[in-house]
Amino acid sequence: MSRTPIIAGNWKMFKTAGEAVAFANEVKGKAEIDGVESVICAPFTALPALADALKGTTIKIGAQNLHFEDSGAFTGEISGVMLKDLGVHYVIIGHSERRQYFAETDEIVNKKVFAAFKHGLTPIICVGEKLEEREAGKTKDVCKVQTEGALKGLTPEQAAQAVIAYEPIWAIGTGKSSTAEDANEVIGYIRSVVAGLFGEEAAAKIRIQYGGSVKPNNVAEYLGQSEIDGALVGGASLEPASYIALVEGAK
Ligand code: PGA
Repeated sequence: MSRTPIIAGNWKMFKTAGEAVAFANEVKGKAEIDGVESVICAPFTALPALADALKGTTIKIGAQNLHFEDSGAFTGEISGVMLKDLGVHYVIIGHSERRQYFAETDEIVNKKVFAAFKHGLTPIICVGEKLEEREAGKTKDVCKVQTEGALKGLTPEQAAQAVIAYEPIWAIGTGKSSTAEDANEVIGYIRSVVAGLFGEEAAAKIRIQYGGSVKPNNVAEYLGQSEIDGALVGGASLEPASYIALVEGAK
């Protein structure tokens, strides 16, 4: 089963709307490569301008979070309805920074995954272990609990459509990336967890990315692994030339 590799930039809390448009104008055409899906997950405030600037291109836009309710008295929050209305395709859910700084639990992540599907958004669900968990030999256990928690109650068809990003927390923004072989092994394990929950077909279809200090010079090594279907990239997705090189490296 061939899975289309997906390179998703996670801009985090960087770039104004104007900066996002300038970026879009630089990468248009160049980060559009047959056989690779290019995604940019921008701050909410940049999404309308980015959607406009990327109209007519194959580059898709993503958000970095959503609330699980459609509307209501939730000051400061953004819902799936609102994102869909902007032409957003993807939404990152359960990034380790949201789990750590905004107290997102597996239950909240699961509700957000349901909200994404309800509005036709594809979730990019982040899982991954902390350094002390890795050192205690708990990497697979942590990934299993988070994967099961996030996907609980989905249909096999929904699970097949989802994207998971395996991001060891100690590798995010640190320059310390997991070896490609090691990431491949954990991702293969996560795929087996999906198979246990939803069957072999869903497991063969679901795309699982690696994330954590992916750069233009190591992206091909990760993507060359049998189980790794793409990358979720923070720092190296912020410069147009670097983003283009990441997409090219995924081919
Ligand atoms: P990084 O971030 O590429 O800067 O390590 C990855 C992420 O947080 O998704």
